[in-house]
Amino acid sequence: MNDVFLKACRGEKVEYTPVWLMRQAGRYLPEYQAVRGNVDFLTLCKTPELAAKVTLQPVDILGVDAAILFSDILIAVEAMGMNLEFSDKKGPVLSEPIRTKSAVARLTVPDTEDSMPFVLETIKILRKELKVPLIGFSGAPFTLATYMIEGGSSKNFLHTKKMMFQNRGLFDYLMKKLTKTVISYLSAQIVAGAQAVQLFDSWAGVLAPSDYKESALPYVKKAVTAIRKEHPETPIIYFVNDCAGILKDAKKSGADVIGIDWRVDMSEAVKKLGKKVVIQGNLDPCALFLPKEMIDDRVIDILDKAKAAKGHIFNLGHGILPETPVENAIAMVEAVHKYSRS
Ligand code: CP3
Repeated sequence: MNDVFLKACRGEKVEYTPVWLMRQAGRYLPEYQAVRGNVDFLTLCKTPELAAKVTLQPVDILGVDAAILFSDILIAVEAMGMNLEFSDKKGPVLSEPIRTKSAVARLTVPDTEDSMPFVLETIKILRKELKVPLIGFSGAPFTLATYMIEGGSSKNFLHTKKMMFQNRGLFDYLMKKLTKTVISYLSAQIVAGAQAVQLFDSWAGVLAPSDYKESALPYVKKAVTAIRKEHPETPIIYFVNDCAGILKDAKKSGADVIGIDWRVDMSEAVKKLGKKVVIQGNLDPCALFLPKEMIDDRVIDILDKAKAAKGHIFNLGHGILPETPVENAIAMVEAVHKYSRS
């Protein structure tokens, strides 16, 4: 068992810097496309044998040090009672966005065993097959709320902010339900065999720092505290996209590892996050379109700067893009392993 990733999560000394990629199972891999050609995305998420198969693909092809469960953050939103569809053009669509008290009241805090058994089954299959640790995940409460309130992806998050600013009680009611869902969903994944968990706060960076502190962070903190209490051994990673303005606050989440995007320089991130948390990140996903020698340079730069942190897990600053040449992703992983050893 390769446990370099878990050691790094705990801030222990490692022989090289572990690396994995957000969205490492996906459309840039022809092997994924081949599976996806026969089933729609949600069916793929809900068929344990297939979900396990595509989870394993990047581990073998890229040589990464961790696997991430193949699923989607919106699976839990569907389980709460919303109608979810993925359209090739528009991305996720949640019909009947949540805008009223009665709509929030109708949402359930799902029991994972009952309403998402396929997730737990996938984890169990994977733990038998994997030789690297398995990361479970959930959307963070604010990011999940944006999809539910907007009804899908958004440009300016107007409906979400309107609810936050004009109907605080309702926003809070929704966020509390989401926080309970996140806690119980991640705990169930850990019980089933996930060895670390990541909270994706992909949209927290659209908030002004004071709004982040008031309307997103407290719920993340609550989730981290509850999961830590039940599962003190399991590392918790908190990824915040567009994090530059809120890094000092994101640290207060209490997570063991903070994942950062590429818009902030690694030195600056280390300075702001201090010596108590491990940092994950943060190569620009578009850097994988550079010539290979230049990918090396960027990898070396991030590795060097991250040496000042408590620990470092190499990753992209956000998900890998579908257009990415596979050989460049492989080259990046090799570069991380090679240069962090010397
Ligand atoms: O990282 C992995 O390899 C595990 C699988 C994973 C997926 N989604 C698969 C996926 C994970 C961890 C996610 C998380 C997720 N999903 C996030 C947080 C991370 C981030 O990117 O910010 C978000 C915001 C979503 C919601 C989502 N899912 C959107 C907006 C879309 C459409 C855009 C797109 O990339 O197509 C998805 C679809 C999705 N999730 C795909 C995959 C492989 C593509 C579906 C396909 O095969 O057609």
